[in-house]
Amino acid sequence: MKIFLIGYMGCGKSTKAKQLAHRLNCPVIDLDAEIVKQSGKSIAAFFEAFGESGFRDYESNMLKTYPYPEHCIVATGGGLPCFFDNMEWMNENGVTIYLQMEPGQLVSRLHNRQKRPLIKDLNDEELLEFIKVKLEERTVFYKKARLIVNAFDLDAEHLEKMLLNFTQNSTPQTSD
Ligand code: S3P
Repeated sequence: MKIFLIGYMGCGKSTKAKQLAHRLNCPVIDLDAEIVKQSGKSIAAFFEAFGESGFRDYESNMLKTYPYPEHCIVATGGGLPCFFDNMEWMNENGVTIYLQMEPGQLVSRLHNRQKRPLIKDLNDEELLEFIKVKLEERTVFYKKARLIVNAFDLDAEHLEKMLLNFTQNSTPQTSD
């Protein structure tokens, strides 16, 4: 089974993906890292060369063509679920988990912004405003996830339990 972790920048997708993969003893795939590997460009350099729309095309193609092993945990970029039919594709091809966090919590976790082109020039105040607006736009996509989990202070054991519970019952779940 493929597990896709989705959510806003800074919500902990990459860290939780690694922890979950460790617990479930399966590989972890970080799609942003794969884009960097395959294109030979950092995400910031990619945006600079091809713009956001070039990045979204490449990102969607990477999502849909990556040779995933049968069981794996996939960390996605924060914007990926909100473009094309990426969210539907993930729901058809695996289990999606939305790691939900409030704007204020996200700001406090986004200190190193240089590698994130969309927010690299914003101060804390501007970032909070930016996240509030973007998160509202993106929530409609994120909420299509099969599982929605409060990601603040989330430990991997709890995440694993939620996932196992979901796969056993196969009904949408929400936690707070
Ligand atoms: C983006 C999030 C980034 C990366 C790119 C765009 C976004 O990934 O894909 O900078 O639009 O939210 P992370 O969520 O891993 O930072």
